[in-house]
Amino acid sequence: MQLLLSADPSQAAIEAYIGKCELHQFRADNQLTGVLALLPTRPETMEIVNIAVAQDYQQQGLGTHMVRFAQQRAAQLGMKRLEVGTGSTSFAALALYQKCGLRMSWIDRDYFVDRYPEPLTENGIPLRDMVRLSCPIPCATLNE
Ligand SMILES: CC(C)(COP(=O)(O)OP(=O)(O)OC[C@H]1O[C@@H](n2cnc3c(N)ncnc32)[C@H](O)[C@@H]1OP(=O)(O)O)[C@@H](O)C(=O)NCCC(=O)NCCS
Repeated sequence: MQLLLSADPSQAAIEAYIGKCELHQFRADNQLTGVLALLPTRPETMEIVNIAVAQDYQQQGLGTHMVRFAQQRAAQLGMKRLEVGTGSTSFAALALYQKCGLRMSWIDRDYFVDRYPEPLTENGIPLRDMVRLSCPIPCATLNE
């Protein structure tokens, strides 16, 4: 739960979706290093609803590996699209997704204002809007 909360500050929201998800755990040195929650939303569409890497293991390529894993898993299940939503202030996540070939599709304005009881701030900026990104499955990376 602690790791899931680092990606989504609402425990109530996590509890509402986590039971419907495929939850993948990543481990190294006998430790939980990452969690990835995948949810089939619409027909042929898979969404990353939560992705988090433990602090000590960040910026070592695990997030990239997990998004790649999500793309492969979506393909395996016959999905045609992978989607994700992230805060407009979540710069690490925005870079990660775009490096993995996802592109911005739309902005859900005031998503965080309407759904979270307390005002949120990230990277010194009030967090209000959700950026939605997606890629076709199979998906090429930035370098392909
Ligand atoms: C977002 C997150 C999953 C990235 O995982 P990670 O293992 O650090 O990612 P990677 O090491 O594969 O990095 C991939 C790219 O993301 C970007 N990135 C990762 N961490 C970054 C940071 N702190 N600042 C800026 N860019 C960053 C870089 O562009 C990086 O590419 P590079 O290695 O070529 O520079 C991780 O930071 C995390 O768990 N954060 C807390 C939870 C969260 O915000 N989840 C996303 C919610 S939508």
